[in-house]
Amino acid sequence: MVQLHVKGVVRSSRQSMDFCATSLLYFGALLYVIVQLARFAFADADFTLLWAVVFGNKPENKLQGKVVWITGASSGIGEELACQLARLGARLILSARREGELERVKRCCLERSNLQEKDILVLPLDLLDRGSHEAKMKSAVQHFGNIDVLINNGGRTQRSLCLDTNVEVYQALMDLNYLGTVSMTKQVLPHMTERGTGVVVTISSVVGMAGVPLATGYSASKHALQGFFNSLRTELTDYPGITISTVLPGPVQSQIVQNAFTEQLGKPVATAGDQQHKMQTSRCVRLILVGIANQIQEMWIAQQPFLLAFYLWQYAPTWAWAFTNFLGRKRVQNFKAGLDADLAYFTKPKPKTS
Ligand SMILES: NC(=O)c1ccc[n+]([C@@H]2O[C@H](COP(=O)([O-])OP(=O)(O)OC[C@H]3O[C@@H](n4cnc5c(N)ncnc54)[C@H](OP(=O)(O)O)[C@@H]3O)[C@@H](O)[C@H]2O)c1
Repeated sequence: MVQLHVKGVVRSSRQSMDFCATSLLYFGALLYVIVQLARFAFADADFTLLWAVVFGNKPENKLQGKVVWITGASSGIGEELACQLARLGARLILSARREGELERVKRCCLERSNLQEKDILVLPLDLLDRGSHEAKMKSAVQHFGNIDVLINNGGRTQRSLCLDTNVEVYQALMDLNYLGTVSMTKQVLPHMTERGTGVVVTISSVVGMAGVPLATGYSASKHALQGFFNSLRTELTDYPGITISTVLPGPVQSQIVQNAFTEQLGKPVATAGDQQHKMQTSRCVRLILVGIANQIQEMWIAQQPFLLAFYLWQYAPTWAWAFTNFLGRKRVQNFKAGLDADLAYFTKPKPKTS
């Protein structure tokens, strides 16, 4: 009888221990999910890139002394790339059309870094003038001897409905964002394959993966870049020293809206709006530099809800269509009501004031 009682006590204490262990396991799993969801809610880049921020190579150690050629260096993301790279001790080639602005960026870089005058080359170029790119490449190599990193950043967006937009605008977007970038890459690539080393970074966009209204041509040009560089990366597997990276930012503070194409060539945007709600340029650029230092091949950089859009488009496209349609409908309604299309995600449509 006593033996039976002891056995019963042992069994019940084992059961309660099992119960405890199982509960702990469930609690741990639940806690893990909650922590990951909280991290995701506040994340501003994909998890690979955020992992590299904490545990990966530091740009300070990897980019010092490198020769980096930046297109679109006269404003926005390109200007900030120049400033941060200068502080890291990278030598720079600054390109865009406006020479005066490039000189301003150069002065700013020199003031905030230990670089010397000869460490920064201002090399104005028009991405549309593809015939001039070979000579620009020669000038760059003549000055520095080699190019370690090309950052294809120059480009323009679009703010217009497809039904209202001239085909010439679509052609201009492809000429600039796609062919201009391809042309620059083709100039630099033989130099990199000959040396067996180099990095080509291209600033694509969230719309290089997703679709978004008012930017049918822009989105198409960035999709084209994604296709081009994904294929090129695979083509270069015999050159393990060459890294092809694409960066897909969501909305970032810059001059991009003011410079956007509209329905007709030469027609400026009506409302550029306040850019403050967008990601800070400095944060976006720091993440890009971490990505370059860690040879990350694709970087998703965006605050929520845009980061969620990346994950949905990648892993659950059917949900992505519903999500994009929900946001997109609002964007079109607000655009038609005369509001800035980007800010429109976060505001209510207002009737147009005459
Ligand atoms: N800001 C965002 O929200 C965002 C999001 C995703 C992707 N992006 C991409 O980021 C890149 C940089 O844009 P940003 O936001 O920094 O805009 P931005 O401030 O307007 O800068 C665009 C740059 O491109 C240059 N550019 C324009 N047309 C050119 C041409 N024909 N030849 C050479 N350079 C030209 C401009 O210089 P000049 O006028 O002096 O030539 C300027 O330096 C673009 O590729 C854009 O698509 C931006």
